[in-house]
Amino acid sequence: MNFQILGTGSYAPEHIVTNDDLSKMVDTSDEWIAERTGIRQRHISVNETTHDMAYQAAMRALDDTGVKPEELDMILCATISSDLASPNVAIMVQKMIGATCPAMDISAACSGFVYTLDVAAGYFARGKAKKMLVLGAERLSKMLDWEDRATCVIFADGAGAVVLGEGESYLSSKLTAKGDDDVIKIPYYVGLSPFFTIPGEKPCINMKGREVFKFAVNAMYNDVQEVLEQSGLTQKDVSYVIPHQANLRIIDAVARRMDIAPEKFYHNIERFGNTSSASIPIALDELNKAGKLKAGDYIVLSAFGGGLTTGACVVRWTK
Ligand code: COA
Repeated sequence: MNFQILGTGSYAPEHIVTNDDLSKMVDTSDEWIAERTGIRQRHISVNETTHDMAYQAAMRALDDTGVKPEELDMILCATISSDLASPNVAIMVQKMIGATCPAMDISAACSGFVYTLDVAAGYFARGKAKKMLVLGAERLSKMLDWEDRATCVIFADGAGAVVLGEGESYLSSKLTAKGDDDVIKIPYYVGLSPFFTIPGEKPCINMKGREVFKFAVNAMYNDVQEVLEQSGLTQKDVSYVIPHQANLRIIDAVARRMDIAPEKFYHNIERFGNTSSASIPIALDELNKAGKLKAGDYIVLSAFGGGLTTGACVVRWTK
């Protein structure tokens, strides 16, 4: 026994920041950002916390299914940007929606949502859950150096959610981790301990873009092939690949190497930027709400990110 996806939800802050807006803040241009990344605009939080966004996504996912908060056996949230170290985002959502189940966050950067689905599958396999809420929620805008044009044009805010019920739809998965704090790193604040004397670094995202690019294309290509093989499927069987929305050129490069039609690689990075662990559930929700998914469709999710981590899985759509 594992799970099936009963419904989806997502939320992005109302405030939109365009590439032109950013070009007034740093030395960049709409042309550069759109050409190098595919991004045209992103949603940025104004006074909304990560758990505020996660709550909205959760409510929309519950509405999509008719599942009541009190029916949930567990809430998991993939995030690296909780506004509180404790309570975590999942517990804040538990409180806000009026659920009573256990709740916890999982940190695996942009691969977080795929990692978290894999953890969720374990609860179903052990018979510990009949209904779960799984979220990806990020407020990356608080972790950006808004004077660094290499990163502030890329990352953004948002949240996505799925409600899971018992089923057999999680067909295969692959998670990887390769310890590396050189290619992507987000230092945390150093705290106030008088005993810790190492000077703090800026608590902002820094990354070596080109190295991430190469890593991402190879990892996604290999991971998608491997999870399809594990499921006994071929590339021709795939209805949609939902890749982590980090760069349209990364998505295009993976699509070019595969025998899957490019239009099956879903992307919305143009409108959302890179929302880390929220990017895949937001995209899944868009596909679902647009009525583009039908029962029996095979959907491949594939992510990569800080860690360095990667995660991919195949899910059969049943709604
Ligand atoms: N606007 C204008 N110029 C910019 C810029 C910006 N926002 N950011 C960087 N540049 C400049 C650089 O300073 C550099 O100038 P130089 O040639 O004078 O030194 C030039 O553009 C090229 O920089 P480079 O970093 O080599 O560009 P790139 O083509 O690799 O694109 C990324 C940069 C970040 C868009 C790209 O590498 C990328 O998306 N990598 C993957 C990152 C990723 O996925 N991260 C998320 C992980 S989950």
